[in-house]
Amino acid sequence: MFLVTGATGTVGRLVVDQLIAAGHAVRALTRDPARARLPAAVEVVGGDLALPGTVEPALRGVSALFLFPAPGTARPVLRAAGELGVHRVVLLSSSAVEYRHAGADNAIVAYHREIEHEVEQSGLEWTLVRPGAFATNARQWAPQIRAGDVVRGPFAEAEMAPIHERDIADVATRALLAPGHGGARYTLTGPESLTQAEQVSRIGACLGRPVRYEEVPREAAGRLMIQNGVPADVVAMTLRFQAELVGVRARVSSTVEDITGHPPRTFDQWVADHLADFR
Ligand SMILES: NC(=O)c1ccc[n+]([C@@H]2O[C@H](COP(=O)([O-])OP(=O)(O)OC[C@H]3O[C@@H](n4cnc5c(N)ncnc54)[C@H](OP(=O)(O)O)[C@@H]3O)[C@@H](O)[C@H]2O)c1
Repeated sequence: MFLVTGATGTVGRLVVDQLIAAGHAVRALTRDPARARLPAAVEVVGGDLALPGTVEPALRGVSALFLFPAPGTARPVLRAAGELGVHRVVLLSSSAVEYRHAGADNAIVAYHREIEHEVEQSGLEWTLVRPGAFATNARQWAPQIRAGDVVRGPFAEAEMAPIHERDIADVATRALLAPGHGGARYTLTGPESLTQAEQVSRIGACLGRPVRYEEVPREAAGRLMIQNGVPADVVAMTLRFQAELVGVRARVSSTVEDITGHPPRTFDQWVADHLADFR
């Protein structure tokens, strides 16, 4: 039995699908089973990673755990996992834990580092999956693209190597299923470094119409993000983080291909897979 946390999320949902497709029994943890909409073959259980006692029942009979990085409670969750006989844990972490520049000195990076530490100390066989920027972050531009041909935002020249969520799930599922990934820290990226302006223009190309990125000053961009519902502390962290990425080619890793045997999917492929979001 596999327990997938974050099972209704972008990555976890695909991990569920892949485990089921490979013929395995899957239990999925969600805070709201009534809204989860998971495949019928999945055993859906209620539980909140912020309340470790609610997760314990879900760990019974489980051999391997896909762990979503909820802050603050990894230690008791992993302790219970070990006591209940879970053998392997694969953590959805973030490549931001590797950054040392000033923009990475923030609460999100800190809690990912803390959870990684707890996983490493858990006594379970562990694998850390560290994706960089998700291609799905481009969905933040969807309302502006649906409404027109200009995306306004900060740091047009900030570079990243966006990764398709399927590639993250491909690596995580392999680490859950097969031995040989214990003690590995897998940094995952997409295949190419792209500025934010280039990403927006690629989306336009896929839509068949020009769309351009218009850089707005940092403070105005922050105000816009807050108006769009992003919490103020996350806005501040994002802006500080992105400022460090301007004009710096993003590192591209070979890990997706090393582990899965296929090259990472391109950003264009991601856009093609999600075109409906931008129409
Ligand atoms: N976006 C990026 O560029 C990026 C880059 C690197 C790493 N990451 C990492 O990836 C994560 C996002 O992954 P994602 O996009 O797959 O997730 P997502 O789509 O944002 O979904 C969040 C998932 O986590 C579950 N969850 C959240 N808090 C929970 C709690 N307290 N107890 C139980 N389940 C909880 C939710 O389940 P329910 O709502 O069903 O309970 C949902 O399935 C980030 O948090 C970050 O750690 C993101």
